[in-house]
Amino acid sequence: MKLCMIGTGYVGLVSGVCFADLGNDVICVDKDHDKITKLKKGIIPIYEPGLEELVKKNYKSKRLSFTSNISEAIKKSNIIFICVGTPTKKNSNAADLSQIFNVANEISKNIKSFKIIINKSTVPVTTGDDVEKIISKKVSKNLFSVVSNPEFLREGEAIRDFIYPDRIVIGTSNKKTNRVLKSLYTPLISKGAKYINTSRRGAELIKYASNAFLATKISFINEIANLCEKTNVNVEHISIGMGLDKRIGGRFLRAGPAYGGSCFPKDTRAIVDTGSKFKTNLSIIKTVIKSNKDRSKLLLNRVKKMLKNKIRNKKICFLGVTFKANTDDMRESSSLTMIPYLAKKNAKVFYYDPSGFKKEFKKFKNVFNASSIKDACKDSDLIIIHTEWNDFKLLNFKNLNKKKNFIIYDMRNILPNEKFKKGKVKYFRIGS
Ligand code: UDX
Repeated sequence: MKLCMIGTGYVGLVSGVCFADLGNDVICVDKDHDKITKLKKGIIPIYEPGLEELVKKNYKSKRLSFTSNISEAIKKSNIIFICVGTPTKKNSNAADLSQIFNVANEISKNIKSFKIIINKSTVPVTTGDDVEKIISKKVSKNLFSVVSNPEFLREGEAIRDFIYPDRIVIGTSNKKTNRVLKSLYTPLISKGAKYINTSRRGAELIKYASNAFLATKISFINEIANLCEKTNVNVEHISIGMGLDKRIGGRFLRAGPAYGGSCFPKDTRAIVDTGSKFKTNLSIIKTVIKSNKDRSKLLLNRVKKMLKNKIRNKKICFLGVTFKANTDDMRESSSLTMIPYLAKKNAKVFYYDPSGFKKEFKKFKNVFNASSIKDACKDSDLIIIHTEWNDFKLLNFKNLNKKKNFIIYDMRNILPNEKFKKGKVKYFRIGS
């Protein structure tokens, strides 16, 4: 089939490349000319394992192409995916849909034959109705169909999540459109993916409800971890004990420093906003947002206690600063709260992240990007493991830091607890 992906970020580029790899002709469109030029040279703007080789392979086979010319791309395609960003509006919980509506407007100028227009961006329930209204101002309704097909791609695992999705959700009440999309996704369905056809609004809400529930699960286990710390219980045993109940499931029950990223924080705020628009109080999700927001402060209080409230001039090392491993994404990472706080208390903060330097800390004169794990750790009073990169899982800290009696605060529980039972290093983890 002939597809075009409008927006070449985490969703558009990964989905486009994977659709091409399934044998479709895919045009990836972006208004950022520089990004398009780089993509044509095989330079990938995002850190996603496995993406570079897939782009090069499909670009070489001419199934995949890149352009900034949106009208040409629309004219050449039967199915148009809208994959632009829907960030949180300033001073609001609402999603900013301006990019979605701009693209809908562009599409409406270029429909000369029947097109299926698919919202793959995460959009509040009823957005598809708005897109339909915009397009029908210029195009008769029998020349297009607007569908919701939310993505469930995790950063760092996006290709795997695309090829092996738990489910494909298609929001349309148009039988013909549904048949076309079922055939587009047949290669994944034949590998075991479940295919769900619901209303357009139903698909929009499935996406938000899923992310809000996953965020709730994480905040739940984070709060249970707080109780475990007070009752001398190991939260990992609780996660295992709970997770064996098939109704609960073991995934997304890893206690940590607070969820971050470009999705959970934004999507929980947006669904609460949708609730208030429809006069429905989503009190549980509101509590999840607050619990997660307060978590970084809670962990910082622990850090102050570990350092006996003496933070000034202490050398504090952060191993990992991204919101999770296998990504370079810093969006709403808990390190963005923790490091500035410690810097303002005049600590000397050295961070090392496998994805490299972070501009977010540039303005702090006492925050330094170490070029190696050793440089980050040496002479540290406190080593914080903030992100669960594999690079940190087998480190020999006694070789990395000759200082006596230093502390390790493992915020991801990736180090073996028993290793630190004896010896001078004080080891703290989450939830035990
Ligand atoms: C999420 C959803 O998983 C994905 O389906 C959706 O399409 C986009 O948003 P992503 O934000 O990339 O994906 O990362 P995810 O792996 O879900 O982690 C989100 C945050 O939760 C990270 O900060 C991670 O560290 C944290 N997390 C995740 C935990 O603290 N504990 C867990 O058990 C799982």
